Amino acid sequence: MSLIGRTAFVTGAGSGIGRATCQVLARDGANIIAADVNEANARKTIELIDKSESKNLSIAIDVSKSSNVKHVLDKVLETYKKPPSIIVNCAGITRDNFILKLSEENFQEVIDVNLKGTFLVLQAFANAIIEHQISPASIINIGSVSSKNGNMGQANYCASKAGVELLTKTAAKEFGKVGIRVNAVLPGFISTPMTAIVPEKVKAILLKQIPLARLGNPEEIAEVISFLASEKSSYINGASINVNGGMV
Ligand SMILES: NC(=O)c1ccc[n+]([C@@H]2O[C@H](COP(=O)([O-])OP(=O)(O)OC[C@H]3O[C@@H](n4cnc5c(N)ncnc54)[C@H](O)[C@@H]3O)[C@@H](O)[C@H]2O)c1
Repeated sequence: MSLIGRTAFVTGAGSGIGRATCQVLARDGANIIAADVNEANARKTIELIDKSESKNLSIAIDVSKSSNVKHVLDKVLETYKKPPSIIVNCAGITRDNFILKLSEENFQEVIDVNLKGTFLVLQAFANAIIEHQISPASIINIGSVSSKNGNMGQANYCASKAGVELLTKTAAKEFGKVGIRVNAVLPGFISTPMTAIVPEKVKAILLKQIPLARLGNPEEIAEVISFLASEKSSYINGASINVNGGMV
């Protein structure tokens, strides 16, 4: 229960890795603010961890819109009187296509949610954390194994996740002095609704690249996020942690 007394704000909390993160952080003692563009799913996440909803909150957010992120931060401050000390940027989308067929719209959409969205949430909440002198604080951004070497059909996604990694390293350098650690978790091939749409033929090829010979579970990512959120990782800052079964 290393997170007692802490509050965690998790985006993409209505599904997959975000939902598992809320469950694991709650198990470890944190109050949870589950934020997702799909409000009903965020509410379901809170119901799964706390029937009374006493210290936990679900909230609608579109991370790609700065005005919406600011509105959500205001609502959080109104409810909790101080900003959360754990921020997990888990909201993410894919719009896969080969480069020659990839539309400008689908390129932009992925950059807006995955990269700009991570930036907007990180900037708004870090500002509030600094203003309220909250310390320790930990921000965890979700990158991807595919940002390392690229992946056919995912130019937009790989570029967005590579951006998330360097945004993380830069934020770690800027915020270290005010007691905010910023790290990235780079999941491999994890069993969630996002990967459920991957065709079986492609799945079989990907499985061959995973030494542990299986997909990961969202909980296996969430456990690392909880470690990074806690003071057990107090000297880890600016790191990118692979959680991918050995996939390269
Ligand atoms: N599943 C994998 O194999 C895998 C691998 C590497 C990285 N990731 C990353 O992990 C994160 C979670 O992925 P997942 O597999 O759980 O996916 P998921 O599709 O199950 O969940 C993503 C959640 O993000 C929400 N979301 C989408 N757009 C949003 C927006 N504009 N604002 C707020 N919320 C929004 C969705 O409603 C959804 O609930 C993503 O950033 C994804 O890129 C996943």
